[in-house]
Amino acid sequence: MASPPYIVGIGGTTRPGSSGERLVRCVLLEAELLGAQSRLFDGKELSALPHYAPESPSRSPEQLDLIEALRRADGVVIGTPAYHGGVSGLVKNALDLVEDMREDNYSYFSGRAVGTVVTAAGWQACGVTLQALRGIVHALRGWPTPIGISVNTVAQKLFNEQGKLIEAAVQTACKSQAEQILSMARGRQ
Ligand SMILES: Cc1cc2nc3c(=O)[nH]c(=O)nc-3n(C[C@H](O)[C@H](O)[C@H](O)COP(=O)(O)O)c2cc1C
Repeated sequence: MASPPYIVGIGGTTRPGSSGERLVRCVLLEAELLGAQSRLFDGKELSALPHYAPESPSRSPEQLDLIEALRRADGVVIGTPAYHGGVSGLVKNALDLVEDMREDNYSYFSGRAVGTVVTAAGWQACGVTLQALRGIVHALRGWPTPIGISVNTVAQKLFNEQGKLIEAAVQTACKSQAEQILSMARGRQ
Protein backbone atom coordinates (compact mmCIF):
# COMPACT_ATOMS: atom_id res chain seq x y z
CA MET A 1 0.00 0.00 0.00
CA ALA A 2 1.30 3.50 -0.79
CA SER A 3 2.38 5.57 2.19
CA PRO A 4 0.18 8.55 3.09
CA PRO A 5 0.90 11.68 1.09
CA TYR A 6 3.11 14.07 3.02
CA ILE A 7 2.07 17.72 2.88
CA VAL A 8 4.25 20.54 4.18
CA GLY A 9 2.85 23.90 5.27
CA ILE A 10 4.77 27.16 5.53
CA GLY A 11 3.03 30.10 7.10
CA GLY A 12 2.88 32.58 9.90
CA THR A 13 4.36 35.71 11.32
CA THR A 14 6.25 36.57 14.48
CA ARG A 15 2.83 37.02 16.10
CA PRO A 16 1.72 33.71 17.65
CA GLY A 17 -1.58 32.51 16.20
CA SER A 18 -1.58 34.82 13.19
CA SER A 19 -4.60 34.33 10.96
CA GLY A 20 -2.47 33.14 8.04
CA GLU A 21 -0.83 30.48 10.19
CA ARG A 22 -4.24 29.28 11.38
CA LEU A 23 -5.53 29.05 7.82
CA VAL A 24 -2.53 27.04 6.64
CA ARG A 25 -3.12 24.77 9.63
CA CYS A 26 -6.74 24.45 8.52
CA VAL A 27 -5.72 23.30 5.02
CA LEU A 28 -3.31 20.79 6.56
CA LEU A 29 -6.02 19.46 8.89
CA GLU A 30 -8.36 19.00 5.93
CA ALA A 31 -5.57 17.14 4.15
CA GLU A 32 -5.10 14.90 7.18
CA LEU A 33 -8.84 14.14 7.20
CA LEU A 34 -8.30 12.92 3.64
CA GLY A 35 -5.49 10.60 4.72
CA ALA A 36 -2.37 12.76 4.48
CA GLN A 37 0.40 13.33 6.98
CA SER A 38 1.49 16.91 7.44
CA ARG A 39 4.10 19.16 8.95
CA LEU A 40 3.69 22.88 9.56
CA PHE A 41 6.57 25.33 9.69
CA ASP A 42 4.81 28.07 11.64
CA GLY A 43 5.76 31.64 12.41
CA LYS A 44 7.99 30.62 15.30
CA GLU A 45 9.94 28.18 13.14
CA LEU A 46 10.16 30.61 10.22
CA SER A 47 11.51 33.23 12.62
CA ALA A 48 14.30 30.85 13.63
CA LEU A 49 15.62 30.60 10.06
CA PRO A 50 18.75 32.68 9.42
CA HIS A 51 18.69 35.03 6.47
CA TYR A 52 19.20 32.98 3.34
CA ALA A 53 22.78 33.54 2.13
CA PRO A 54 23.41 32.21 -1.41
CA GLU A 55 27.18 32.66 -1.12
CA SER A 56 27.42 30.47 1.98
CA PRO A 57 27.13 26.66 1.80
CA SER A 58 26.59 26.32 5.54
CA ARG A 59 23.05 25.74 6.73
CA SER A 60 21.58 25.84 10.23
CA PRO A 61 19.76 22.78 11.65
CA GLU A 62 16.50 24.70 11.18
CA GLN A 63 17.26 25.36 7.50
CA LEU A 64 18.20 21.71 6.94
CA ASP A 65 14.99 20.61 8.66
CA LEU A 66 12.86 22.73 6.31
CA ILE A 67 14.68 21.62 3.17
CA GLU A 68 14.52 17.95 4.19
CA ALA A 69 10.76 18.24 4.77
CA LEU A 70 10.22 20.00 1.43
CA ARG A 71 12.27 17.38 -0.41
CA ARG A 72 10.00 14.71 1.07
CA ALA A 73 6.82 16.67 0.40
CA ASP A 74 4.17 15.41 -2.02
CA GLY A 75 2.42 18.78 -1.77
CA VAL A 76 2.91 22.17 -0.17
CA VAL A 77 0.77 24.95 1.33
CA ILE A 78 2.18 28.46 1.65
CA GLY A 79 0.50 31.21 3.66
CA THR A 80 1.63 34.81 3.81
CA PRO A 81 0.27 38.09 5.10
CA ALA A 82 0.19 40.93 2.59
CA TYR A 83 2.96 43.28 3.60
CA HIS A 84 3.07 46.43 1.47
CA GLY A 85 1.34 44.65 -1.37
CA GLY A 86 3.53 41.55 -1.37
CA VAL A 87 4.77 38.44 0.37
CA SER A 88 6.21 39.01 3.88
CA GLY A 89 9.98 38.90 4.32
CA LEU A 90 9.69 36.05 6.82
CA VAL A 91 7.90 33.79 4.33
CA LYS A 92 10.05 34.89 1.40
CA ASN A 93 13.20 34.09 3.38
CA ALA A 94 11.95 30.51 3.76
CA LEU A 95 11.10 30.33 0.05
CA ASP A 96 14.51 31.70 -0.96
CA LEU A 97 16.04 28.69 0.78
CA VAL A 98 14.25 26.43 -1.73
CA GLU A 99 17.07 27.45 -4.07
CA ASP A 100 18.96 24.59 -2.38
CA MET A 101 16.58 22.22 -4.23
CA ARG A 102 17.45 23.50 -7.70
CA GLU A 103 19.63 20.51 -8.60
CA ASP A 104 17.24 17.92 -7.10
CA ASN A 105 15.66 15.29 -9.34
CA TYR A 106 12.40 17.07 -8.62
CA SER A 107 13.84 20.56 -8.99
CA TYR A 108 12.34 23.05 -6.51
CA PHE A 109 8.57 22.20 -6.29
CA SER A 110 8.41 20.32 -9.62
CA GLY A 111 5.54 17.90 -9.89
CA ARG A 112 3.87 19.20 -6.75
CA ALA A 113 0.68 21.15 -6.18
CA VAL A 114 1.12 24.21 -3.99
CA GLY A 115 -1.81 25.74 -2.13
CA THR A 116 -1.66 29.50 -1.63
CA VAL A 117 -3.13 31.44 1.32
CA VAL A 118 -3.07 35.23 1.75
CA THR A 119 -4.29 37.38 4.62
CA ALA A 120 -4.59 41.13 4.13
CA ALA A 121 -6.32 44.16 5.58
CA GLY A 122 -7.70 45.24 2.20
CA TRP A 123 -9.08 43.71 -0.97
CA GLN A 124 -6.42 45.15 -3.25
CA ALA A 125 -3.60 43.46 -1.34
CA CYS A 126 -5.65 40.24 -1.22
CA GLY A 127 -5.50 40.15 -5.02
CA VAL A 128 -2.00 41.37 -5.78
CA THR A 129 -0.35 39.32 -3.03
CA LEU A 130 -2.11 36.15 -4.11
CA GLN A 131 -0.91 36.83 -7.64
CA ALA A 132 2.64 37.52 -6.39
CA LEU A 133 2.66 34.30 -4.38
CA ARG A 134 1.45 32.34 -7.39
CA GLY A 135 4.25 33.94 -9.44
CA ILE A 136 6.78 32.68 -6.91
CA VAL A 137 5.29 29.18 -7.04
CA HIS A 138 5.58 29.24 -10.85
CA ALA A 139 9.22 30.38 -10.56
CA LEU A 140 9.78 27.38 -8.29
CA ARG A 141 8.20 25.13 -10.94
CA GLY A 142 5.29 24.25 -8.68
CA TRP A 143 1.63 24.03 -9.65
CA PRO A 144 -0.47 26.61 -7.80
CA THR A 145 -3.83 25.07 -6.94
CA PRO A 146 -6.81 26.49 -8.80
CA ILE A 147 -8.27 27.40 -5.40
CA GLY A 148 -6.28 30.26 -3.93
CA ILE A 149 -7.40 31.43 -0.49
CA SER A 150 -7.31 35.16 0.04
CA VAL A 151 -9.04 36.74 3.02
CA ASN A 152 -9.59 40.28 4.16
CA THR A 153 -9.09 40.03 7.92
CA VAL A 154 -10.76 43.42 8.52
CA ALA A 155 -13.91 42.73 6.51
CA GLN A 156 -14.31 39.08 7.50
CA LYS A 157 -14.57 37.65 11.02
CA LEU A 158 -12.72 34.39 10.58
CA PHE A 159 -12.27 32.93 14.06
CA ASN A 160 -14.25 32.76 17.30
CA GLU A 161 -12.83 33.39 20.77
CA GLN A 162 -11.51 29.82 20.90
CA GLY A 163 -9.65 30.31 17.63
CA LYS A 164 -12.01 28.09 15.64
CA LEU A 165 -12.59 29.01 12.00
CA ILE A 166 -16.22 30.17 11.78
CA GLU A 167 -16.37 31.54 8.21
CA ALA A 168 -18.05 28.71 6.29
CA ALA A 169 -16.91 29.85 2.84
CA VAL A 170 -13.26 29.95 3.95
CA GLN A 171 -13.58 26.51 5.58
CA THR A 172 -14.96 25.18 2.29
CA ALA A 173 -12.06 26.79 0.42
CA CYS A 174 -9.54 25.12 2.79
CA LYS A 175 -11.18 21.75 2.13
CA SER A 176 -11.23 22.27 -1.64
CA GLN A 177 -7.61 23.35 -1.65
CA ALA A 178 -6.61 20.28 0.39
CA GLU A 179 -8.48 18.06 -2.09
CA GLN A 180 -6.66 19.65 -5.02
CA ILE A 181 -3.24 19.27 -3.39
CA LEU A 182 -3.95 15.63 -2.59
CA SER A 183 -5.29 14.77 -5.99
CA MET A 184 -1.93 15.71 -7.50
CA ALA A 185 0.03 14.21 -4.58
CA ARG A 186 -1.66 10.83 -5.08
CA GLY A 187 -0.89 10.97 -8.80
CA ARG A 188 2.87 11.14 -8.15
CA GLN A 189 3.02 8.25 -5.66
C1 LIG B 1 4.36 45.70 7.72
C2 LIG B 1 2.93 45.52 7.32
C3 LIG B 1 2.53 45.84 6.05
C4 LIG B 1 1.21 45.64 5.65
N1 LIG B 1 0.85 45.97 4.37
C5 LIG B 1 -0.44 45.77 3.98
C6 LIG B 1 -0.84 46.09 2.67
O1 LIG B 1 -0.06 46.55 1.84
N2 LIG B 1 -2.13 45.88 2.33
C7 LIG B 1 -3.03 45.36 3.22
O2 LIG B 1 -4.19 45.16 2.85
N3 LIG B 1 -2.67 45.03 4.47
C8 LIG B 1 -1.40 45.23 4.88
N4 LIG B 1 -1.02 44.91 6.15
C9 LIG B 1 -2.00 44.29 7.05
C10 LIG B 1 -1.89 42.79 7.10
O3 LIG B 1 -1.77 42.20 5.81
C11 LIG B 1 -3.12 42.21 7.78
O4 LIG B 1 -3.20 42.72 9.10
C12 LIG B 1 -3.17 40.72 7.79
O5 LIG B 1 -4.41 40.32 8.32
C13 LIG B 1 -2.08 40.13 8.64
O6 LIG B 1 -2.25 38.71 8.61
P1 LIG B 1 -1.94 37.79 9.85
O7 LIG B 1 -3.10 37.85 10.79
O8 LIG B 1 -1.78 36.45 9.20
O9 LIG B 1 -0.70 38.33 10.50
C14 LIG B 1 0.27 45.12 6.58
C15 LIG B 1 0.69 44.81 7.86
C16 LIG B 1 2.00 45.00 8.25
C17 LIG B 1 2.42 44.64 9.65
